[in-house]
This record gives sequence, structure tokens and C-alpha cells, in this order.
Amino acid sequence: MAKLVMTPGPTNVSARVMAAMQKPVINHRSPTFRKLYKDVVEKTKTVFETEGDIVIFTSSGTGAVEASISNLIRPGDNAVVTSFGEFGNRVGEMVEVYGGTTVKASAPLGDCPRMESLEEAFEKTKEVKALYVIYNETSTGVAFRWLKQAGELASKYGAYFIVDAISNLGGDELPVDKLGVDICIAASQKCLAAPPALGIISLSARVKAEFEKNPPKNFYFNIPRYLKFAEKGETPFTPALPLFYALDEALNVALEEGMQNRIARHKRCAESFYSILGRLGANSFAKEDVRSNTVIPLLYPPGVDDLNFRKTLDEEHDVIIAGGFGEYKGKMFRIGCMGEINEKIVDQTVSAIGKVLGR
Ligand SMILES: Cc1ncc(COP(=O)(O)O)c(C=O)c1O
Repeated sequence: MAKLVMTPGPTNVSARVMAAMQKPVINHRSPTFRKLYKDVVEKTKTVFETEGDIVIFTSSGTGAVEASISNLIRPGDNAVVTSFGEFGNRVGEMVEVYGGTTVKASAPLGDCPRMESLEEAFEKTKEVKALYVIYNETSTGVAFRWLKQAGELASKYGAYFIVDAISNLGGDELPVDKLGVDICIAASQKCLAAPPALGIISLSARVKAEFEKNPPKNFYFNIPRYLKFAEKGETPFTPALPLFYALDEALNVALEEGMQNRIARHKRCAESFYSILGRLGANSFAKEDVRSNTVIPLLYPPGVDDLNFRKTLDEEHDVIIAGGFGEYKGKMFRIGCMGEINEKIVDQTVSAIGKVLGR
């Protein structure tokens, strides 16, 4: 029996999307690839709600996050970064790797920084080149719900607005152009329900102009190079062809359902997870007003051994979930509520969890 992959990415991929990868390998410098590329880009724009450019990297999400930093941040630049878990901390680290200074807008784990904390970070910093917001902090299951205000703040200070939406794009609201997002980052293996290893970004006209004015010196993840090849419908380097086919089909699935329906389905399923598992004694680690619709973070009831619990779920019930991060290892578990998620999968998952917790 196939396992139910309920980790916060990678997530279950439908047979239809898996089958798309059976298509023959083609020349990536051919009209057939150029058509596939252009189709994928157009559909991605619809999902991101943007008229901007799209770049697709053959890499996991981290490659795309790093590209948003290596192409933009120069030695001496300041970046305000929301820091409320592992993925915000990694962005902060990467900014410094490229010679920038990270100014954190932090919050305790389980919560996220409010606008006052972002405003304070801007006020105390002389010039801010970019604001990096983690929309959905996967390590704690917390979603930052003030994107509109954050975009306005960045704009007030002339800073670029970068959003890491890797673990919720396709499962939560994110109208990129309406919110003034300069770079939005997603990955194939989460709410888009494709296999892992494509990093996807959108780019505003303003940030493109910045790259022209101040060209980045990196090589493989050099965004201007990708944009130049994109004009003819190609990537600069050999793309992961099977994954392009899979992403194309996954986008078809998403657009056939309609993004509003898809987002509503994620929200409905998340609410079921929180309420049913809460009744079983597993309460949300995230504060209620900021809890995620795509990553469900739950504290173990007393007396449950994390490794044993997850091993039993996997081996006896074929349900795979994730544990906690850092200091919360052993104290919490996380469930992906992503992509293919529906009421039946919620029922299967909570029923298996209920049986194992009951023991
Ligand atoms: C919010 C966020 N950012 C970045 C990443 C890194 O993505 P990847 O593991 O695909 O490199 C993840 C992965 O879970 C994530 O959830």
C-alpha cells in the first residue's frame, strides 16, 4: 500500500502528475521544450497572480531563496528579516554570507512578529535594501498575516519586498502584484503537489530594473541570465525535464480546481485537523490568530514518545508525519495540509493518529 505522505513537504503527488513524468526526454533547445516552458510560465503567473516575470530553477526551495539574496544583496546592504523559526533564521544567515547585515524582526517560537516589530526594525536601520518575510514558517506552523502592511512598509522606505511562500503558495492567499511583492518564492513539492526539486520565483519590474542597474556577479543562479534565456522560452542550463512535465500537469490540476476553491479546501482541512486533534489532546503549538493553513504544528499530550509514535504511524498505518525542530524536537509533531489534501485524507490521518495516541 502506498504511504500517505503527510509531512510538510514533500507531499503526496497524484498518479496523474507522476504519469506526466513518463513523457520522453526531449532536447531543451527545441520548439517542443520552448512551448512547454512558456506554458508552465503562463500558468505559474496565474497561480501567483502576477504579470511579472517567472524564473524556474532546477533546485529545491533553498536555491530559490539563495538566488533572491545573492542577486540582490551586496556587501554593506541592510536587510530586515522576519525571524520566528528555522527558515527565517536561514535567510538571516544567507544575507550575511553575501556580505549584508541582517536586522531581525523577531518573535518567540509559536508566534510571529507583528507590524510594530517590523516598523521598529526599519526605524532603527539607516537604509534598508530589502524586507524578507517568511509567509509560512514551516518549522513552527505559523503564518505571517500582515503581508499588505509589510509591503506598504517596505515601499515607504524604498526597500524591496521579498516573500518566502515556499510552504503555502497554492494553498493560501497570495496575490503577488496586489501586495507589491518584488520577489515571491515557491517550490514544487508543497501546495503545488508536484515532486521536489524545482524552485520558482516571480519578479517585479522594479527588481528587474535593479538587476540591470547593479548586475549580480553569481553564476548558476544568476537571475538576469535566466531572464535572457526566458525571452526565447529556454533555461540557461539543462532543466530537469521530467519535473517540468510534472509541474505543468500539477498547475493544470490547480487551475482546473480554481485557486479560490483550492485555498478554501486547504483552510477547511486545516480547521478539521486543529479541531479533531485538539479534542484528542494534541493542541496547536502556534497561537490561534497566526496558525498556518498548510502546516499543522501540534504539541504531544504528556507521555507520548515522539520517535515511537511516528514509527508506529508509519509502519502500522502507512501515515508519515514530521517531528519538531530544534528545541521542540520530541515535543511536537507537524502534519502537512498541502496540495492533494481533502476530507478523506484528513479522516485517514486523524483516525490513525487517534489509534496510536490512544495506545
Ligand atoms: C518556508 C520555507 N523556506 C525554505 C524552505 C527550504 O526549501 P527546500 O527544503 O525545498 O530547500 C522550506 C522547506 O521546507 C520552507 O518551508
